[in-house]
Amino acid sequence: MRDNPDTIDLVEVHQSHLDVFFQNQQDPEANELAKVFPRDRDDFDAHWLRIMSNPEVIARSIMFNGEVVGNINAFDVDDELNVGYWITKSHWGKGIATKALSDLLQIVQIRPIIARVAMNNTGSIRVLETNGFVKTTEVDSPATDRYAACLEGVYRLE
Ligand SMILES: CC(C)(COP(=O)(O)OP(=O)(O)OC[C@H]1O[C@@H](n2cnc3c(N)ncnc32)[C@H](O)[C@@H]1OP(=O)(O)O)[C@@H](O)C(=O)NCCC(=O)NCCS
Repeated sequence: MRDNPDTIDLVEVHQSHLDVFFQNQQDPEANELAKVFPRDRDDFDAHWLRIMSNPEVIARSIMFNGEVVGNINAFDVDDELNVGYWITKSHWGKGIATKALSDLLQIVQIRPIIARVAMNNTGSIRVLETNGFVKTTEVDSPATDRYAACLEGVYRLE
């Protein structure tokens, strides 16, 4: 990981952070990387209400020098713990996702932990590999209401 004099911290998600998360998931370039179709505000708020009221989801806001710049979540899918993260575009390339995932892996001790990433998402793959994740397989992921079709890598940390 690079030397970074800036501070990157994880904090509990507060309702006031949701505007940043909403704007993040509206960005077309970010959606192209993540192969996600954005939620409208009502769906987005309902989604975050479910996250924040589910004690089994570990959700954190990512703070960069005290400013909310994204989120990182660990959540169960089919009895496997998955991780996902999203950073405000103007802060990409500063090592924020790499540090946020490293910090989350200290908070969440359960292993294995899985990440699914579109193989076009070079930055996210780098974030995972730097944190010790290893690709176990690639699958053709079909389009859904929520996701665009893509070649998806399944990464795993034992
Ligand atoms: C993917 C994403 C989380 C990366 O966040 P970030 O804070 O910019 O990542 P980092 O700064 O920690 O970068 C990690 C590495 O990837 C590289 N990288 C970042 N974005 C990159 C890109 N678009 N293309 C190529 N490399 C990239 C960085 O240079 C860095 O490399 P290094 O470790 O050799 O120095 C961010 O682009 C994002 O939020 N994208 C939209 C949502 C998304 O894709 N989420 C993940 C879904 S699986």
